[in-house]
Amino acid sequence: MSERDFPTDFLFGAATSAHQVEGGNDNCDWWAWEREGGSQDLSGDACDHYRRYTGDIALLRELGLGSYRFSVEWARVEPVEGKFSTAALEHYRDMVVQCRAAGVEPIVTFHHFTLPTWLSRRGGVLARDSAGLFARYCGEVAKALSGEVRWALTINEPMILVLMGYLQGVWPPGLKSPRQAMRAARRLVLWHRMAHAAIRAADPAMLLGVAKHWIDFRPFDPSQASHRLGTRLQHGLFNRWYLEQVKGESDFIGINYYARQYTTGLLRQVPLASPQAPKTEMGWSIVPEGLRTALESVAGYGLPLLVTENGIACTDDRERSRYIDRHLLAVLQAMQAGADVRGYQYWSLLDNFEWAEGYRPKFGLVAVERESQSRTVRESAKHYGDIAKSGRLSADFD
Ligand code: FCB
Repeated sequence: MSERDFPTDFLFGAATSAHQVEGGNDNCDWWAWEREGGSQDLSGDACDHYRRYTGDIALLRELGLGSYRFSVEWARVEPVEGKFSTAALEHYRDMVVQCRAAGVEPIVTFHHFTLPTWLSRRGGVLARDSAGLFARYCGEVAKALSGEVRWALTINEPMILVLMGYLQGVWPPGLKSPRQAMRAARRLVLWHRMAHAAIRAADPAMLLGVAKHWIDFRPFDPSQASHRLGTRLQHGLFNRWYLEQVKGESDFIGINYYARQYTTGLLRQVPLASPQAPKTEMGWSIVPEGLRTALESVAGYGLPLLVTENGIACTDDRERSRYIDRHLLAVLQAMQAGADVRGYQYWSLLDNFEWAEGYRPKFGLVAVERESQSRTVRESAKHYGDIAKSGRLSADFD
């Protein structure tokens, strides 16, 4: 095995989330938020993935990818408080069964940003009993998927949800309150703990973790004490705090990594160190070493790791291939330094609904023409598929 080889069971895959691809998800808080002008677009039919999942799973297999991370939509499974939809549960069971039949390992997320309307109306995450309600929903889903799922994530990016929804107010529920943000963060710890117990009871074999967004914070000007202090503070609050709370109830850690941010004060940062620095269509800096640092750093918990998201929005698809190569190299380097990384899920399988930004950013390995819903496999997808099939990184790096 050379230093460019991945282990034979390494999970090369791609990720999506329900609201971003399924379409017609009209019983959740985001659907209402979009109608209040909270996004550049309405999610509408999205990629019609709720009906087209069989074809999309076949695409993954044809590309040579071995895993698919997707999320279960709470608003569909429990459309009315306490009433579970057998049809929706069967739908998600069929997705995992079809993944298995195609030789694609399903990685299931129980919560990816959206809440059922009935819960958002009575306070969402901050509702007094939200953790118990989440755990009950998770238990029902785990029962329905039982025996078919090995890797599962309770919550996607809890601290991003807190930041966007409770501190910056740009996502639902639109609060701008440090106090409520702290309450929401603590509540989401409870969500994970209670969900962990409920899922364990329903299916003891599922490996459970969270998908933790990691930002590579650096001081903008290392000679300034406030920039250095701000870096430590933000790293501690955003990257570390949640993991510290849930490490005891985690079988592995999922890392979503996209970018570096430069700290310019205690709670301030800028996305780039200079206007010349390479960035994506989202304006995010491209710093593959940040993924290596993240993985080496969380390796200290002694748990297996999965890269649950990493990807680029771009108009030139060649950039995507380069991005994937360079980030996979960072993964290999972290593994050589001792991190137990089991897989990498590119964000995203499909061009999809990117929350407040709508449909403009193109993250997909596969382009989706939304009028006709036709799928076009990009060259970068074939490139990534070739890496997955050979288990080897063959790019030249300068
Ligand atoms: C992550 C989200 C995912 C997607 C990517 C670009 O923060 O988990 O849903 O929006 O960013």
